[in-house]
Amino acid sequence: MIPNQWYAILESNEVKPGKPVGVTRMGEKLVLWRDEKGQVTCMSDLCPHRGVALSAGKLIGGNIQCPFHGFEYDPSGRCALIPANGKNATPPKVMQVRRVYSAREAHGFIYIWWGEPRAAQDLPPLPWFDSIDDTFAYATLRDPWAAHYSRAIENQLDVVHLPFIHHNTIGRGNRTLVNGPLTRMERDAAGDLLNLWVYNVLDEGQPPLKPSEIPEPQQRPFLQFRFPNLWQNWISDDLRIVVAFAPVDDENTLMYLRFCQKSVKVPILRELFNLSGTLSNLVIERQDRRVVVTQQPKRSDLRIGEKLIQGDGPIIEYRRRRNELIASAAAGGG
Ligand code: FES
Ligand SMILES: [Fe+2]
Repeated sequence: MIPNQWYAILESNEVKPGKPVGVTRMGEKLVLWRDEKGQVTCMSDLCPHRGVALSAGKLIGGNIQCPFHGFEYDPSGRCALIPANGKNATPPKVMQVRRVYSAREAHGFIYIWWGEPRAAQDLPPLPWFDSIDDTFAYATLRDPWAAHYSRAIENQLDVVHLPFIHHNTIGRGNRTLVNGPLTRMERDAAGDLLNLWVYNVLDEGQPPLKPSEIPEPQQRPFLQFRFPNLWQNWISDDLRIVVAFAPVDDENTLMYLRFCQKSVKVPILRELFNLSGTLSNLVIERQDRRVVVTQQPKRSDLRIGEKLIQGDGPIIEYRRRRNELIASAAAGGG
């Protein structure tokens, strides 16, 4: 994982008021809950007293109570009460939940800051796509993949696979020859954005165009990847497919597949349209999943012995930038 980044790890509606939720993300068991104002807290799902999962407990006011011996922890992870020591005793400082993650919500996702702890004002804005605003309606499906999140992301940047894996869906037409593709990296306050334009065509014996032979695109990109874990297929100004790749652990990723549109606004029709959109997304994702889960090694990187071709350019760009971000976080930046 790239440290010092905001990761979308859950959808907002998965954390309901009044009830803690236990999930595995970033290779760690985490508990999330909302305080009385609806503010989300995220911390290690482990009671420092004797190792019980806090998510099996309940909420008392804005605090979480461990189910075993009733110790209560506030949103900063500090123990607020040890009932066995009496309500007037001050719990010792060591009775502190191991890690508390800064958590924020936007665009229907819960993000956590994974990296060195920082004061709220020092955290960058949440990564998202400026071209998707709140006028879009959406429906989401969750699809678990037994793959490292880097492999799942690379699959969404892989334009070479389209006519093979998706020969009967989005890759129809046998456009096996891969011109380019073109990629352009961009950087703004919320981080890095990889833009991608696809020029797959029928193979009529011509050599594929190099990226440098393709004119600078004037139209919007076909795909965008927002580091560290968001992707969109910009189908039209009114229609997008968004994927959040929530890292579960080194071998598993939870894909949040979102169908976003703003062309159908009538309530019931809109829901039907969104539902059919997510279902066809799922068919396509399952075509990918079958193959991607077999990739070795599980985690991708620049030097893992793969023999890449010109069409794999976006994957190389992703790996390069990912490594740079990891190195810059290790040097204290990011
Ligand atoms: S294990 Fe949590 S209070 Fe004892
Ligand atoms: Fe695919």
